[in-house]
Amino acid sequence: MVRAENVSFRYGAGQPDEVAALFDVDLRVAPGEYVAVIGPNGSGKSTLAKHINALLMPSSGRVVVAGIDTRDPDRVWEVRQAAGMVFQNPDNQIVATVVEEDVAFGPENLGMPPAEIRRRVKEALEAVRLLEYSQHAPYALSGGQKQRLAIAGVLAIRPRCLVLDEPTAMLDPVGREEVLRTVRRLNREDGIAVIHITQDMEEAAEADRVVVMDGGRVVLEGTPRQVFARADLLRELGLEVPQVTELAQMLRADGLDIPPDLLTVDELVAALCPS
Ligand SMILES: Nc1ncnc2c1ncn2[C@@H]1O[C@H](COP(=O)(O)OP(=O)(O)O)[C@@H](O)[C@H]1O
Ligand SMILES: [Mg+2]
Repeated sequence: MVRAENVSFRYGAGQPDEVAALFDVDLRVAPGEYVAVIGPNGSGKSTLAKHINALLMPSSGRVVVAGIDTRDPDRVWEVRQAAGMVFQNPDNQIVATVVEEDVAFGPENLGMPPAEIRRRVKEALEAVRLLEYSQHAPYALSGGQKQRLAIAGVLAIRPRCLVLDEPTAMLDPVGREEVLRTVRRLNREDGIAVIHITQDMEEAAEADRVVVMDGGRVVLEGTPRQVFARADLLRELGLEVPQVTELAQMLRADGLDIPPDLLTVDELVAALCPS
């Protein structure tokens, strides 16, 4: 679905103030897979995300999305249709004054016939559970609802992959949970691949795979269990591990015989109180 091969990128390449942001990054995301990307600030996560959406082109290496090389100037819109992007700030993604018009924006730009646009808008709003807000003003929605609206706007172009760049960072816990539940359902029920950049380790723990970036490189990659078992390395990078994992690792350091790679409360309970 998404293949980044040996991608290096420099902002302002060739200028005296150029900034090298990615070095030889390889990333593969299979159709329907849910991948979390974590890493400290400035590690290149957003830069990588923008490559998947053809907002940035590699300085060297290549990115292929749904079989299309993002550097192909004739197919940029196909790339953006295949991989829809949602950003951190919900307010920056609103383009219309009525919810349903906001969702219609993408399909309208693709020149779809009005009947098809209406069908897609309804379907996308249903998918994020906002259909009853069709006639509302986007600005009056809560943060979580606004992010679900942003997701609906992307869904209306029927992407095969969602790229979410810290979509919950500005939300309260309720909004976070709404957005996560929506993304999880789209992944599991509709098979949409998800690349979810997050600072929240509890969120990352729910992915099929976690990719850890530091200094513009992928430094660790594996299942959440494999990655969070490396709490030592993550702490060196200034990252946390999920709270349950941390507690389990502390108990283990105190001599309790429990595995170092627990991810859920249920697993911890089972390890402490074997039946
Ligand atoms: N528009 C830009 N111009 C110059 N440098 C940038 C720009 N955007 C990001 N950078 C630099 O690229 C590096 C990676 O940034 P970014 O991809 O935003 O990291 P992250 O999303 O992990 O915080 C950082 O050193 C950052 O300062
Ligand atoms: Mg970022």
